Amino acid sequence: MPYTQIAGTGHCVPERVVTNDELAGMMDTTDEWIQQRTGIRERHWIREGESGAGLAKVASERALAAAHIDVGEVEAILFATVSPDHMAPGNGVFLQRELGAGMIPAIDIRTQCSGFIYSLSIADAYIRAGVFRTILVVGAEVQSTGMDISTRGRNTAVIFADGAGAVVLQAHDDAAGSAILGWDLHSDGTFAEKLWVDAPGAIYHPRNQATHIETKGFAQMDGKEVFRHASTRMPESVRAALSHAGLSASDLALLIPHQANLRISEMVQRNLELRDDQVYNNIDRLGNTTAATIPIALDECVRAGRLKRGDILAMTAFGSGFLWGSAVLRW
Ligand code: COA
Repeated sequence: MPYTQIAGTGHCVPERVVTNDELAGMMDTTDEWIQQRTGIRERHWIREGESGAGLAKVASERALAAAHIDVGEVEAILFATVSPDHMAPGNGVFLQRELGAGMIPAIDIRTQCSGFIYSLSIADAYIRAGVFRTILVVGAEVQSTGMDISTRGRNTAVIFADGAGAVVLQAHDDAAGSAILGWDLHSDGTFAEKLWVDAPGAIYHPRNQATHIETKGFAQMDGKEVFRHASTRMPESVRAALSHAGLSASDLALLIPHQANLRISEMVQRNLELRDDQVYNNIDRLGNTTAATIPIALDECVRAGRLKRGDILAMTAFGSGFLWGSAVLRW
């Protein structure tokens, strides 16, 4: 059975930086409140004319270049997003077109903040089963155009942001080489309405209603409930994925937690008894880019030389669904 390695990483965030002070000009909030509760100082939002597929294209090209792989060698695209450019089709086909890839499968994965971890696990299963040998996995979001940028939406508008990250996965046969060693995935739909976007939805007749724009069309979040579950589920899941790989938290060289909120990452770190240098956070600069946080952070770590061959890396996510999961790799 082949092993799955990450052969290259890339990311792209829009040029436009939105500071907390800028948000304070749009709604009743302060830089101090945002930093204290979330750890976020600034984030990136797209300008008109930019798109999620466009960000994903740049991230993917960087990942392909890092892997020294021509786009023609990619056998499948997995595109994790909760914010596709259009309701249908999904962003996978737009990326396939933009990249000039072959007529390969392009699959959108809709598991919100856990989208990258879920996509990684699916790609790993394809590779280990011998179905594909080279897969492009992308997490990309444009959250800024879907938020209620007013005092009413301030508990989510200060958190979510735009960006894209990509990895190229490749099959190889070296048992001692870099590989995905284990993963752990869960859902609990009991909490579906604790972080959700109600409409547009096919349950409504008709699906698109003008009144929804001001009511059900924005993300609604019970922040305290999300916080409580995220801070316990992520460490639990990291331990489970490590255990599937025959490892424990003391083996970890680096943990990349989903960048939901710096306070959540700090609780995950404490729970797993990790040092500051074992946990990577960039939410202060980038906010929460949903399915893109982990591949963006991974690319930053790779380019900064934070990972060396043989290091044990864990990545973990939690979000809307509730859905959560983790992956453990030998770098
Ligand atoms: N600026 C200023 N005040 C704000 C605010 C903002 N951006 N957002 C909310 N508030 C206010 C609320 O309106 C409320 O005011 P009230 O007491 O007058 O009603 C007060 O702050 C406390 O609100 P609450 O929602 O209880 O705050 P909190 O301490 O739970 O912090 C979050 C809010 C969103 C920062 C926090 O719950 C959180 O981070 N949760 C996790 C969210 C997350 O990670 N989501 C992504 C998951 S993938």
